[in-house]
Amino acid sequence: MTSRPNKDQQTSPSVDTAGEPKAAKGNLRKVFVRTYGCQMNVYDSERMTDVLAPEGFEATEDLNDADLVILNTCHIREKAAEKVYSELGRIRKVKEERAKSGKDMMVGVAGCVAQAEGEEISRRAPIVDLVVGPQSYHQLPGLLEKARQGKKVVETEFDIDAKFNHLSGQAEKPVLKRAPSAFLTVQEGCDKFCTFCVVPYTRGAEVSRSVQQIVEEAERMASAGVREVTLLGQNVNAYHGEAADGATWGLGRLLRRLAEIDGLDRLRYTTSHPRDMDDDLIAAHAELKSLMPYLHLPVQSGSDKILKAMNRRHTREDYFRLLDRIRAAAPDIALSGDFIVGFPGETEQDFEDTMDLIRRVEYGSAFSFKYSQRPGTPGATMDDQVPEDVKSARLAELQALISDQQKAFNASRRGMICDVLLEKTGRNPGQLVGKSPWLQPVQLDAQENLIGSIQAVEIVDIGSNSLFGRLIAGQDTFDTAGAAAAPASQAG
Ligand code: 5AD
Ligand code: SF4
Repeated sequence: MTSRPNKDQQTSPSVDTAGEPKAAKGNLRKVFVRTYGCQMNVYDSERMTDVLAPEGFEATEDLNDADLVILNTCHIREKAAEKVYSELGRIRKVKEERAKSGKDMMVGVAGCVAQAEGEEISRRAPIVDLVVGPQSYHQLPGLLEKARQGKKVVETEFDIDAKFNHLSGQAEKPVLKRAPSAFLTVQEGCDKFCTFCVVPYTRGAEVSRSVQQIVEEAERMASAGVREVTLLGQNVNAYHGEAADGATWGLGRLLRRLAEIDGLDRLRYTTSHPRDMDDDLIAAHAELKSLMPYLHLPVQSGSDKILKAMNRRHTREDYFRLLDRIRAAAPDIALSGDFIVGFPGETEQDFEDTMDLIRRVEYGSAFSFKYSQRPGTPGATMDDQVPEDVKSARLAELQALISDQQKAFNASRRGMICDVLLEKTGRNPGQLVGKSPWLQPVQLDAQENLIGSIQAVEIVDIGSNSLFGRLIAGQDTFDTAGAAAAPASQAG
């Protein structure tokens, strides 16, 4: 299961210091990283910025100012490569502009498009100096040096252990303050081979980081002020990492260990596959106060015929039974999912089965996509491709239903008191934005010095995408008795 896609985003300068820059102060070079796709890419972009910091690179959000540009790409849906090529066209113009004033600009393409396209990228877009796949970004300094000597560099090896070891090496470095919520990659790749999906080809086979590597990184985050960690993996609940005694730990056991770390008061994980939701992980939802009541558990379709054609290896009944067990363990859990409409062979009845599944589950939110043919995947050459206009109509219908469910779920929070992790300033002065236990943004009036604290908040109003809250006490709930999610009428 791939991570939930975000809208394209730039990586803000990392505040995590990775040692003293090699270049003298005042002589810092600027790196502009643009991130496409899922949270895994957001995490990778942050780590690329970290790797480049000791080389004298400082992050910039201004493309015109960049000595080095990196596009961290996503290949999950159609036209991904074409979008990268047109972005490279725009970058070429900026590079030419800079050249007029004697300034150079190096260009790198990273991520899954880099992995899939390889050399083709620098052939079609000669301004690209460097192509680096998702498992090789820790080699960036060396690769850049080669590129600086005028060589076209393409590095798309699948040496994931080397990448994970490098990440752990970073744990030795001193740490400054970090944002209250952070991602932590625990596994990469996928062995599921759903017939629509490129991930097993672009990210490779499933590999889990060791327990020790993860615990050290989480401890380091906690000491840098991180309160909430989201464990990332394309198929995160397939996690099976090695512990110090040689035993293999699943995700449930890993979460229990991370819950012991002082200061880490909120744990999340994404994205999960229904087949890998084992009893231990479900039990962790009942046991761990810090494991947030939110689960992204994509089902993709509600039709058994389509699930089989997708090679999902579960039926709709399996999914319902699984949700019953999860809801028994965590009754207030918010469910989220991914849906694909118009997979080859999907009839009106198959689509109706998906709509029926959604009605029965009642999601808090969900992501939905029109099926797109990904070259190299089995789905791309299947008969009975569904016409575009049919896909569009089905997607609109499905999204209307999800939107109604999301509104109903949000509205059901009105009047509740819940813990909110305050993360950043809001749009208006005096306003902060935080996150509810169910991953909804919450806006409220509060002073900036409360950023990074977890506060008891009463939900007083519901907007289209966020909740509006009122601060109850102004003291971190983890320093006091702690307010759990409960209707206001029962809270005091
Ligand atoms: N077409 C449409 N949607 C896709 N996804 C993955 N591959 C495709 C495809 N070929 C969706 C799935 C996945 C999410 C991240 O992207 O729903 O869970
Ligand atoms: Fe997720 Fe299936 Fe793709 Fe694996 S192959 S990442 S399980 S959609």
